[in-house]
Amino acid sequence: AKVIFSGIQPTGIPHLGNYLGALQQWKRMQDEAAPDTKLIYSVVDLHAITLPQQVGQLRQWRREMLAALLAIGLDPQRSVIFYQSAVQAHSELMWILSCTASMGYLSRMTQWKSKLSLSENASVTDEKAKSALKLGLFSYPVLQAADILVHRATHVPVGEDQRQHLEFARECATNFNHSFGNGSKLLVPPETILSPAKRVMSLQSPSSKMSKSDPNPASRILLTDSPSQIRKKILSALTDSTNAVTYDPISRPGVSNLLSLLSLFENKKPEELAAKMASQGAKLKDLKERVAEGVVKAMDGVGERFKEIMARDGGKYLEGVAEDGASKARESADKTMRIVRESMGM
Ligand code: TYM
Repeated sequence: AKVIFSGIQPTGIPHLGNYLGALQQWKRMQDEAAPDTKLIYSVVDLHAITLPQQVGQLRQWRREMLAALLAIGLDPQRSVIFYQSAVQAHSELMWILSCTASMGYLSRMTQWKSKLSLSENASVTDEKAKSALKLGLFSYPVLQAADILVHRATHVPVGEDQRQHLEFARECATNFNHSFGNGSKLLVPPETILSPAKRVMSLQSPSSKMSKSDPNPASRILLTDSPSQIRKKILSALTDSTNAVTYDPISRPGVSNLLSLLSLFENKKPEELAAKMASQGAKLKDLKERVAEGVVKAMDGVGERFKEIMARDGGKYLEGVAEDGASKARESADKTMRIVRESMGM
C-alpha cells in the first residue's frame, strides 16, 4: 500500500507558492487516495529552528500552520497531521542516518550553498562567516530524510526546491539497506511527486521563488489575504515595459509567472493562453485581472475557515488534533525504529 508523507515549516502563514506547490497537492492526494493509502503530514518545527526563532513566535506559527492545513481541507480523520517535535523517532533516526550520511554529499546541496552565499563553484573565502553557521543547518537534509524514512513513505509530494533533498533521502535509505539489510528493504526509498506548480515566483522579483523569508510582503500572497488584498498584490506585480502578453520565462519572467499561475487555474498551457490573449489584443492589466480572479477563487473561504479553526473551542480543538496526530505518528514511526535498531544490533 502507498504511504504519502510531506512536511512544511511553521514559518508564518503559508503563501501561494506553498499552497499551489504543496498543500493543494496534499489535499488532492487525500481526496483521491485509495482506502488503504496512509497519508501523513507534518508541521516540521525542528526544521524551523535551524535558523534562530523567537519562542513566542514559533509557538504561534506552529498553531497557525496546523490551522492552515485544516483550513485548506485536510481532514484529521483521514490524514495523520502532527508536529514533528512531538514524535521523538524523527530525531533518533536522524542521528542514526547521520552516521552513514556523507559530508561531501551534504556540502553539495544547493540550499546549503545558498546559505553559504556561494555561487556553484566558488571557494570559501570568508572563513569567519562560515564557522558561524550552525551544524543543524548543514545536517538539515538528514532530518528531512528521517522524516520520510521513519514512516516508510513511498510517495512525497513537494515543490521543485525540495527535489535534491529527496534524492538525498533515497541515498540515505539505499546506504542504510546496504550496510545493515543484506539487500533487504529495511528502509524504503521514496518517490518524488512534483506538483504541477513546481516553482511559483515572487510577485516583486520574479527571478526568485515566492518565499516566506522575502522581506517584501508584496512579493507573496498569503492564504489569509482578503480578495481585495489579493487583487492589489497581483495588480501591482512587477512585470516589464512591454504592454502585451507573451510567454517568455527568460526575458519576461514577471509576465510568464502570471501566465503560469493562470495556466494552473484554467488548465491550459501558458503558451496557449498567451497566444489567445495576444490575438485578442489583451494588455498586461487584462492578464493581471484574470490572474487575480483565479487566485481569489482558488483561495475562496480558506481565510474564514482558518480564523474559525484557530479560535474553535478556545484553541483546544487544535491541541486535540495535534495530540491525536502525534499518537498515530508515533505508532507508525515506532514500527520502523524497531526494525532499524534490531538490524543494527541494538
Ligand atoms: P518549506 O516549508 O520551505 O515549503 C513547503 C512546501 O512548499 C513548497 N514550496 C513551493 N512550491 C512552489 N513554489 C514556491 N515558491 C514554493 N515555496 C515552497 C516546497 O517545495 C515544499 O514542498 N524542507 C522542507 C520541509 C520538509 C519536508 C520533509 C518536505 C521537512 N521534512 C519531508 C517533504 C518531506 C521545507 O523547508 O519546505
